[in-house]
Amino acid sequence: MPKLTIVTRDGSEHVVEGRAGYNVMEVIREAGIDELLALCGGCCSCATCHVQVDPDWADKLPARSGDEEDLLDSSDHKGPTSRLSCQLIFGPELDGLRVTIAPED
Ligand code: FES
Repeated sequence: MPKLTIVTRDGSEHVVEGRAGYNVMEVIREAGIDELLALCGGCCSCATCHVQVDPDWADKLPARSGDEEDLLDSSDHKGPTSRLSCQLIFGPELDGLRVTIAPED
């Protein structure tokens, strides 16, 4: 299974395997990392699944949708590689992706 590296807020790295077809938020939650709240369950309406994608990966991902962009605009921690992890479908093409969980707003 493809691997995802997750950097949690304490700076520790977790390398986990993720099921293809799950979104990145689901892979993170399935790994038992609950500091990513994902309050809306992946409906693109809460922004509590905010991650910063490693810059090497940022341009390999599909562009943000308008809704994703609007929600990220509401975060004090939006950066150039910010994404809502529920909007990124995981799979072999993202094997090796590295994301950092954004600070809590
Ligand atoms: S889980 Fe709510 S926007 Fe991603």
